[in-house]
Amino acid sequence: MPPPTEELVRKRTSEDFVFGRVIGEGSFSTVYLAKDVHTNREFAIKVLEKRHIIREKKTEYVTREKKILLTLGSSCKYFVHLYFTFQDTDRLYFVLTYAKNGELLQQINKDTCFSVECTKYYSAELVLALEYLNAKGIVHRDLKPENVLFDENWHILITDFGSAKMLGEDKSSDEENQRRRKYSFVGTAQYVSPEILNDAESTCASDLWALGCIIYQMLTGQMPFRGASEYLIFQKILKLDYEFPQSFDKNAEDLVKKLLVIAPSGRLGATDQVPYKSIQEHKFFRDIKWDNLGPPPKFFNKSDSEPEMVIIPDDLEPGLDEEKASRLHFEMLSPQTPPRKKSEPNRKITDLNQEEIEQRLELQKSNVYHELVEGNLILKQGIIEKKKGIFPKRRMLLLTFGPHLYYVDPVTMILKGEIPWSEDLRTEAKNFKKFFVHTPNRIYYLEDPDGYALEWCKAIDEVKAHYYPSLQDS
Ligand code: ADE
Repeated sequence: MPPPTEELVRKRTSEDFVFGRVIGEGSFSTVYLAKDVHTNREFAIKVLEKRHIIREKKTEYVTREKKILLTLGSSCKYFVHLYFTFQDTDRLYFVLTYAKNGELLQQINKDTCFSVECTKYYSAELVLALEYLNAKGIVHRDLKPENVLFDENWHILITDFGSAKMLGEDKSSDEENQRRRKYSFVGTAQYVSPEILNDAESTCASDLWALGCIIYQMLTGQMPFRGASEYLIFQKILKLDYEFPQSFDKNAEDLVKKLLVIAPSGRLGATDQVPYKSIQEHKFFRDIKWDNLGPPPKFFNKSDSEPEMVIIPDDLEPGLDEEKASRLHFEMLSPQTPPRKKSEPNRKITDLNQEEIEQRLELQKSNVYHELVEGNLILKQGIIEKKKGIFPKRRMLLLTFGPHLYYVDPVTMILKGEIPWSEDLRTEAKNFKKFFVHTPNRIYYLEDPDGYALEWCKAIDEVKAHYYPSLQDS
């Protein structure tokens, strides 16, 4: 093997990249779209604040994620690749493959659900990916449609190994293991397997459970276990309380039933001598050629699924400092809102002069929601889940001058209602995703799936301060 070139081994710094918009957000990290200044190549850079990691005692998870990504290497095409890692005084950086076509979740939501053909193809890619993880002794533990991305050719790229573990790695005593498990729920409520809820050890079969949930979701657009709270979802998981709609493909139903089995060892594939032969031989996959799946099916309406334009403005300087990080955070939140100028990081959402308002109203005419906001200027918009009753409703929330907080069904494009404004309206952020809007007669339970709850509260508070300035002085 030739010796590595200097360029390959040279330690990178944040000055080697121009950081663009935020493309992902977790509890402990932010993912930026970035461009290598030397090659113009795009990457997704996951940035972790050291202070935050240390304070929350997550160092072990970060070390493990890096180790697992390095173990995965580049020999399986179904995972994001870790190209470089580096750090500065405040942050850790993971330079990863940029998945141009976004998340599986977005595609499921956009198309409501997938065809059987499409579900079969992507389930097959997932099976091959899980087979590779199994061979490496890795359990992902947070497999869900948000963590399955698409590359430029519409093949899957599994990401986020922040909750993953390597089998046989933990050498602590059984007692210590049990104690740790009890206090370290990993994963996401809707996809978590019964053994993780029961404080038992997770194995590769935990990812097979998640696979069953994802196949169900691809075919119906909904998760199999739904509930108004995590507690209710967990109850349903433990009781295996879910149903198939009448129209559900019968072969797929048989496969999902064989994956959603309470006992991990009872799941199809879990005890295969040759993993995952029994899944591959299942009748749902009868026409799949496992040694070459061929090209992905044309499942999308190409015109609305073109990869997004890369939005890294030419005038940005390389590197990431505090000011730039917070600007990218707060200013590029709403894709419809033109980014604000660099010199005004503390500018309020309502700080607009008449000329700017008119300019933005003109631009807004091409916004599909313009017709529904009674001519008011949209200050912020985004998809949120509005909780009322059992099922959360997906809504486009539109904060406008007026002030108004409209919510629209993004599928039917019908204006469903408005959160009534008054001087008593008040926001309350619960975490990065959940936030409440309190009004005298009702509390609105809202969830931003992209984790921008704090930004929503800030924007609503700024609008309140604009219309009710006297309340600020008291
Ligand atoms: N969001 C989080 N990680 C990502 C990646 N690697 N590519 C695109 N979007 C992402």
